[in-house]
Amino acid sequence: MSMLINGKETSKKIKEELKNQVTDMIEAGMEAPTLAVVLVGDDPASQVYVNHKKKGCAFVGIRSLAYEMPETTSEEELLELIDELNERQDVHGILVQLPLPRHIDEEKVLLAIDPLKDVDGFHPFNVGSLSIGRECFKSCTPAGIIELLKRYELDIEGKNCVIVGRSNIVGKPISMMLLAENGTITICHSRTKDLKGVCKKADILIAAIGRAKMINRDYVKEGAVVIDVGINRLDNGKLCGDVDFDDVKDIAEAITPVPGGVGPMTIAMLLKNCVISAKKHQE
Ligand code: GUN
Repeated sequence: MSMLINGKETSKKIKEELKNQVTDMIEAGMEAPTLAVVLVGDDPASQVYVNHKKKGCAFVGIRSLAYEMPETTSEEELLELIDELNERQDVHGILVQLPLPRHIDEEKVLLAIDPLKDVDGFHPFNVGSLSIGRECFKSCTPAGIIELLKRYELDIEGKNCVIVGRSNIVGKPISMMLLAENGTITICHSRTKDLKGVCKKADILIAAIGRAKMINRDYVKEGAVVIDVGINRLDNGKLCGDVDFDDVKDIAEAITPVPGGVGPMTIAMLLKNCVISAKKHQE
């Protein structure tokens, strides 16, 4: 059995660290970090995610303001709310849960968020800043992966990093972050030729495809570090990743489980971004 990279435990540690930082801020006379969480419609998965985020905020001492809007909300109404939140001095972070209902243009909404309050790191200003190595809000799932690799002392520098998936939320930003850590990057996708062969060369393999158990031992080099970003629900109701954990666990050096791997780190990084934003806005 390879080393288990425990995201649940690591995220708990980070949340404890953030809680101490918030206590110090309050003692220094600053306002509590405040996150506006905007949810439009009644997608059950989004409701679960948003509840986890609100609970995380409460634990750390971040004030969360919940805006739960009906499915019928117009794009204009949502943009008005974002303008109002952008203007408010007492709001340090704005999160609009995705996906949005189909009649709302997601890109327009993300562009409307003040980049200095964009704790999700989805605004093109932050995406661009990341790619040229400027300080910025980094999107939370990939930032969580880097944090896990660092805390488990798994070197990135000079390593052959293969990312399967090219989404704006994970595949592209994790590539930029691994590159910034001096990894050698290959991004794979549905048109990649000889995917197995490419993956098999990876020292660090990141699976962010969205297909249950697709990555089995045929894709994994002996001694590789395997990071599973997938969250798939099986017919029996259980969650599983993009990696066939039982098939891979004996050949990898280290591996993240699902659940309890990358997932909890996403929220920890969101909370971290909120604390950073609150400090910056009050300095
Ligand atoms: N939907 C799925 N993942 C995310 C995320 O990290 N942030 C937001 N805002 N929406 C999401």
